[in-house]
Amino acid sequence: MRIVPLTEHTGADILDVDVKTLTDAQFERIYQTWLDRCVVRFRDQQLDIDDLQRFSARFGPLEEMPQYSRMSEEAQRRIANKYVTVISNVKVDGKPIGGLGNAEASWHSDMTYNPVIPTASVLLGEEIPPVGGDTHFANQFAAYEALPAALKQRLETVRIKHDAAHNSVGELRSTYAQPSSPVDAPGAVHPAVMVHPETGRKALFLGRRDWAYIPGLSLADSEALLDEIWSYAAPAQFVWTQQWRVGDVVIWDNRSALHKRDDFDPAQRRLMRRCQVLARQ
Ligand code: SIN
Repeated sequence: MRIVPLTEHTGADILDVDVKTLTDAQFERIYQTWLDRCVVRFRDQQLDIDDLQRFSARFGPLEEMPQYSRMSEEAQRRIANKYVTVISNVKVDGKPIGGLGNAEASWHSDMTYNPVIPTASVLLGEEIPPVGGDTHFANQFAAYEALPAALKQRLETVRIKHDAAHNSVGELRSTYAQPSSPVDAPGAVHPAVMVHPETGRKALFLGRRDWAYIPGLSLADSEALLDEIWSYAAPAQFVWTQQWRVGDVVIWDNRSALHKRDDFDPAQRRLMRRCQVLARQ
């Protein structure tokens, strides 16, 4: 097994392995690389749903997908289950088989609007459009370390409410009513700076910009401070971009990486399977 960094700060390729047959020692090296580099990639993997579920479960217990992320029963039987969900623009009988469609997804971390957040997100590329649909990852340890000292100090006491009502392409989730403003948006409140529970390193922990709110501030002051913080979140030197190939498996640390996805031609098919992992017991 070879481990090759993808940029100075973010991402590593794990080469010459089949994720179905990793030894415990290999897996622990991969896990440490994932903690250090925020995201790891395996290429040319051949995985069915059960393989993906088994491999993902090595990172920790799998999270059941919320109802709004589940697809039709027919699609679930063929391509997913309650631990393996689908991100796709493909429609069967006029109904989407997965989430996010073909739209651009803004910078975010997954499901941070819940009090308990997923630690890892595992994404398998199964059908990939010829152009577009790239996924970008930004290292939030590096973003935190590069903050101006005064902002670092200010953030020690700042908490952010992460909006649950909208998804990362800006759609209102079916189980929520439209909030009237970020102040009223539902969602969990987390510190703006996360002390990573496994590495002890500090990372910016922002969730998603839209509909976020800093409790205790006026909406105008909250918007201004959020804009300031976000201006440091994803400079090019801390970003790695994944250009997908069929058989790629990418795992990001949802506590230390933001990600976003480019849009793509709706006439092209893109189909990804995803597992989300909770903290190791
Ligand atoms: C996501 O934003 O969680 C999905 C990323 C992707 O579709 O590449």
